[in-house]
Amino acid sequence: MRVLGLETSCDETGVALYDSEAGLLSHALYSQVPMHREFGGVVPELASRDHVRRLLPLIREVLDRGNTAPAAVGGVAYTAGPGLIGALLVGAATGRALAYAWGVPAVPVHHMEAHLLAPMLEAEVPPFPFLALLVSGGHTQLVRVAGMGDYVVLGESLDDAAGEAFDKTANLLGLGYPGGPALSALAEQGRSGRFRFPRPMTDRPGLDFSFSGLKTFALNTIRDHGGDAQSRADIAHAFVEAVVETLAIKCRRAMEETGLNRLVAAGGVSANRQLRVRLEQLAREQGGRVYYPRPEFCTDNGAMIALAGCLHLAAGQRATLAIGAHPRWALPISRPPGASPA
Ligand code: KG4
Ligand code: ZN
Repeated sequence: MRVLGLETSCDETGVALYDSEAGLLSHALYSQVPMHREFGGVVPELASRDHVRRLLPLIREVLDRGNTAPAAVGGVAYTAGPGLIGALLVGAATGRALAYAWGVPAVPVHHMEAHLLAPMLEAEVPPFPFLALLVSGGHTQLVRVAGMGDYVVLGESLDDAAGEAFDKTANLLGLGYPGGPALSALAEQGRSGRFRFPRPMTDRPGLDFSFSGLKTFALNTIRDHGGDAQSRADIAHAFVEAVVETLAIKCRRAMEETGLNRLVAAGGVSANRQLRVRLEQLAREQGGRVYYPRPEFCTDNGAMIALAGCLHLAAGQRATLAIGAHPRWALPISRPPGASPA
């Protein structure tokens, strides 16, 4: 079966075509990042309007490049949440309408579920069960994944997500928006040992995270010591070290508590090189391994939505005619809202 996937939850318009036999046939992404940059963050109304402009041309492009006529599409998957409501509605209304017009099922997909399934787009698919570290701009979660749709959130951020902490600290260092990749690059030029940021919530039991204190720590450190370029690089280094070490400590704890030694890392921050190096070291220590999507599928994309939709359809799930868009929608989920077993 061939599934068209649409991602419009935030500031990337992503479209892809996934085939249950042949895998990913084509995909395209239009990033709105340059448009939002001058405002220092995503402007929701501008995001919605730009999805309206970009989505249909991208769908045409993806169908053409995948040599697929609409009649050969067996289902349309779209991100139904969590995300910005206006942005979500563009993908949801378009996806639901196309599915209706083509006489095929529509599949609402949970954005974080799609992130955690994204490593399955790669040649080496992580076998169930595994532990997933989801680190994006909006979420930081540790999830025990027993199978498709069988998710237990073991811990999550009580305040800022890891990506949000990267972006806010990058902003304090004047690195623009979204600053995660730039901050990570600056950190590579920094030296270890000059500054030490706290590892929040690692000194007490549990698997929750809190990253909002790190930006305050960064603010004070930049104010007191951030006068020259090398010092700013050293501060960036200490910040990244603290985030990476905090995530690694919680991953190790989750591996020990669950007995799982297969770890999936997904979401924008999982593209981070320092985090990958540290998680690989951890997996070796635990006798397991880490699975990631390729970097372009760590951040938001249509391929993960098409894949998740295809897996849901294969499991017999079908949506009603309702347009599902849920700005706040929590994992764990057994079934997307609006879906009913076949
Ligand atoms: O998954 P994603 O594209 O969007 C959400 O679902 O939120 O994640 C975007 C986040 C941003 O905060 C961005 O700064 C961060 O991922 N990010 C990175 C890197 N690449 C993207 N953070 C650290 N290092 C990176 N290399
Ligand atoms: Zn995302």
